Amino acid sequence: MSKRKRIIAGNWKMNKTPSEASKFIKSLKPLVKSSRNEVVCAVPFTAIQTAITAARGSRIKIAAQNMHFEEKGAYTGEISGEMLRDMGVKYVIIGHSERRQYFGETDETVNKKVHAAFGYGLKPIICVGESLAQRDAGLTAELVRYQVKAALVGITAQQVSKAVIAYEPIWAIGTGRTATSAQAEEVCGIIRDTVKELYGRQYASAVRIQYGGSVKADNAAELFGMEDIDGGLVGGASLKLQDFATIATC
Ligand code: PGA
Repeated sequence: MSKRKRIIAGNWKMNKTPSEASKFIKSLKPLVKSSRNEVVCAVPFTAIQTAITAARGSRIKIAAQNMHFEEKGAYTGEISGEMLRDMGVKYVIIGHSERRQYFGETDETVNKKVHAAFGYGLKPIICVGESLAQRDAGLTAELVRYQVKAALVGITAQQVSKAVIAYEPIWAIGTGRTATSAQAEEVCGIIRDTVKELYGRQYASAVRIQYGGSVKADNAAELFGMEDIDGGLVGGASLKLQDFATIATC
């Protein structure tokens, strides 16, 4: 049985206004009160402040879904790690496949953002994962290893032990087609091996690895019960109160 504390993070994507966020978090609080897991909601930038206020006095932590790697300056439309830290943000999702696909995120910018996140005391949730074509071509292991190594260039062992890595096969995101627990465990194991190769067993056993991609109330327990899966990054189901509460407490 793993000693790592499970971390369940809802990725709201571009959903919910500040007032909807406040209402949702207030309703979620009592439902996750006795959860042994770390419970995180990654809300849109515009809802961070109200979400943090609503989450006060609870175990729910608020995350951002992205950040810029520079500290400040002429980067119109961007948000820095310092701005997030100052608001009370604890985690930041970095390198989600939607950002890689639609917003030009690369392994290099992911690595810069991971450095910046640690620089501001934020814990990164680093996303990796293959497309269906890459899986069919037998490239999953190689690609995921590469993405993990590229994201962690220059990151210290102390830092890596605080990082969260989310394995999110692109073909499972928002499709309703969840990876089987065996498929998810296989790749999460590869990710832990990669961290072990880079930093040694001690740090590899500390890093938390999530599975993400069509996690639902009825498949979460099986997925999170696997040896190398320490929780989930949950999109669609994190917008539904009862579903997310079930997932966050399993
Ligand atoms: P999904 O999204 O749960 O809706 O598949 C997961 C994610 O993109 O993090």
